[in-house]
Amino acid sequence: MTIWFPMAFITFEGIDGSGKSSLLKNFDLHLKNLGFAVEMTREPGGSELGRELRTILLKNSKTPPCAEAELLLYEADRAQHVATLIKPWLEKKTWVLSDRFMDSSLAFQGAGRKIPFEKVRWLNEFATQGLLPTLTVIVDCPIEVSMARRAKRESEASTKPDRFENEVAPFHQAVRDEYLKMAKTHSRFYVLDGTKSQSTMLEDLIQECQRRKIL
Ligand code: TYD
Repeated sequence: MTIWFPMAFITFEGIDGSGKSSLLKNFDLHLKNLGFAVEMTREPGGSELGRELRTILLKNSKTPPCAEAELLLYEADRAQHVATLIKPWLEKKTWVLSDRFMDSSLAFQGAGRKIPFEKVRWLNEFATQGLLPTLTVIVDCPIEVSMARRAKRESEASTKPDRFENEVAPFHQAVRDEYLKMAKTHSRFYVLDGTKSQSTMLEDLIQECQRRKIL
């Protein structure tokens, strides 16, 4: 399987409520202001098929998918996302910013659901056709902070927590710990302190991209 490294495929990871989605939007705006062609996308739900899978994956149900089915649904979403959107965008030399990608499956289904990591890794490689992000930004924050932010968001928007947000604290802690562990294993990871302000995080990210000669 060929492994290829595009110039500008950046993924954003972190526990729910870490602030990664706001950072992604601010970074997208920054790049667009510089005149770059940028596509902002997400998992699950970047593609049309993915949007249907997202509904299935996040809804609270009396008969939720078992851990294995859940992983396969995320990988199906990812395969469709890479084949029909991400690869064509990168071939057109467009920047791609994705809110979550393959590392979410390692953190949530591997560390969270306890599916053996080698199985998740194999499925990730299969679904992505070996595509790796240029840079993966892990927005890290303590779970107490993320839980408080989510509670605030839910009360302001009168929304209910999804299936993952309903998970207990040890699940979120295992996810966070896994992200931090994975950050030590590969140079493509960059950890940002999610308790900092959005403007500080954006500045730090821009500097990091310059340091890595991506920008
Ligand atoms: P979303 O509402 O997009 O949450 P967030 O803003 O935190 O990204 O919901 C996506 C959920 O799906 C999130 O709780 C993480 C989970 N997820 C997995 O468990 N495995 C995966 O491979 C992916 C991509 C997401």
